[in-house]
Amino acid sequence: MSNSKKILLSGVKPTGRVHIGNYFGAMKQFVELQNEYESYVFIADYHAVTTVQNKEQMSQGIIDVALDYLAIGLDPKKVVLFKQSDLPQVHELNWIFNCITTMPYLMRAHAYKDAEAKNKEINVGIFDYPLLMAADILLQDADVVPVGQDQKQHVEYARDTAQKFNNVFNSEIFKLPEPLILKNVETVPGTDGRKMSKSYGNVIPLFATYEEIKKAVMSIPTDSKGVAEPKDTETNHIYNIHRLLLNNADRQILALKYTNGGLGYKEAKEGLIEALEAFIRPMRERREMLVHDLDTVFDILKAGGQRASMRAEKKMDMVRKAVGVDIY
Ligand code: ADP
Ligand code: TRP
Repeated sequence: MSNSKKILLSGVKPTGRVHIGNYFGAMKQFVELQNEYESYVFIADYHAVTTVQNKEQMSQGIIDVALDYLAIGLDPKKVVLFKQSDLPQVHELNWIFNCITTMPYLMRAHAYKDAEAKNKEINVGIFDYPLLMAADILLQDADVVPVGQDQKQHVEYARDTAQKFNNVFNSEIFKLPEPLILKNVETVPGTDGRKMSKSYGNVIPLFATYEEIKKAVMSIPTDSKGVAEPKDTETNHIYNIHRLLLNNADRQILALKYTNGGLGYKEAKEGLIEALEAFIRPMRERREMLVHDLDTVFDILKAGGQRASMRAEKKMDMVRKAVGVDIY
């Protein structure tokens, strides 16, 4: 890895099967940018403790995300793959960030406000979530953080926190990271047209079997328009998922079929099923092979954890000096 490359960092929580919303919103960028950036991609396991509080589920979730990363094509020779829990420095920095951040500022976070609006019992972890994420990002000196639209505010929290630390401790230790959000796929819609999300039950799993793809697509609600009638692409859930799988030219051809009329919902759904299967199958097959070689997967994570932790330790040395606790 050459030092002149900019640094990319991102992570996914091990909270259940990843879906095509995660892929098109965030993970695809990790793969596409792995040559251009010095990349650090991790499994945000401690972030998941805010909701996953079961040993088996946590361990399996971590293994799943590791397999997912490799199956989508992240190359461990190019990308440092690791799990957050291998970096104790993250929590040390998180505490320092806690002490320079006010409660009202954290109360403005969307995730916190949503949880509050739903009258959920909010644990301290959910409240502090943005600062743990700021620690992940700033420890590795990330220039860019590829994420979906829903994570943009969190990257802004990381920027603000970097600036705050630099001001308070009169240093230039932290870089200000930028979110990388793909135009056109800011938010991938689910089978019901709302944001695709594990919590809405409207997902198409990224490694779905053919049967699962069929079931998900068949569940997409449609109106009573006949085959010949023109259909609006903007509001059509089948089209809005299908478009993600096509290049510009094919997307235009498909859009015309909708707007000109002649494409019935049955045919549209069958087309989407085949397109999803063609896109998912190679990744699904690669994942099935990797499951049989977990030792290699663990070795990759361990080696990545060591590298990321070494970088984090260097950064923390500077932080401890700036804060004044390093007196020897
Ligand atoms: P979920 O919302 O399903 O729980 P996560 O919060 O684990 O997903 O998100 C992991 C990554 O995927 C984040 O970068 C997030 O912004 C992105 N992401 C999740 N859902 C979508 C979506 N529907 N469209 C675009 N990006 C998404
Ligand atoms: N909050 C992110 C999500 O819900 C996961 C995450 C944790 C992350 N730390 C990060 C993403 C640092 C990018 C950078 O998806």
